[in-house]
Amino acid sequence: MTIERRSFPTPWSLGMFVLELSKASSICLAAIRGPRQVGYLICARYETIWHVMNVAVAPEWRRQGVAGALLGDLYSRIADPQARLTLEVRCSNQAAIRLYEREGFRGVGLRKRYYQDNGEDAVVMWRTPATLAGSLADVPNPEWS
Ligand SMILES: CC(C)(COP(=O)(O)OP(=O)(O)OC[C@H]1O[C@@H](n2cnc3c(N)ncnc32)[C@H](O)[C@@H]1OP(=O)(O)O)[C@@H](O)C(=O)NCCC(=O)NCCS
Repeated sequence: MTIERRSFPTPWSLGMFVLELSKASSICLAAIRGPRQVGYLICARYETIWHVMNVAVAPEWRRQGVAGALLGDLYSRIADPQARLTLEVRCSNQAAIRLYEREGFRGVGLRKRYYQDNGEDAVVMWRTPATLAGSLADVPNPEWS
């Protein structure tokens, strides 16, 4: 909760974490460095699609590969080369967009006014066998090409 509150303008409540952590099909990962938790990732499964719901790293631990390591761990736990992953990210969040692009996610469209606190649009991103090969062929309803 401390990392969450330091990372987002509208942080998740404890109840939102409990809900996601209680789903048997979700993958919830903690990044531990020494005695401390320095980051986490929460990913929910909807049949064949994986939705990355939350990723955050404590400010003093950023740019040290923690989020990249969490995502790498996620792919190996999903253990399916055909897996399709999706997420939403604020248009202004260039750090996260760069991270996801480096990981093979591609922006495929916008969800207008997705964030209620400031009315900001979300970029919808997908990481699929096709995006990893440079196309959007297996992405549902892409707005962009
Ligand atoms: C986005 C976030 C999770 C990245 O975590 P991180 O552990 O710092 O990321 P990594 O160190 O694994 O970075 C991997 C790559 O992502 C890109 N990246 C990460 N932060 C960046 C930044 N501030 N500016 C530009 N590129 C960035 C870089 O390509 C980086 O590789 P490099 O350091 O070799 O250049 C972290 O900044 C954070 O917690 N932000 C607040 C919460 C948030 O926005 N979460 C995502 C919501 S969708």
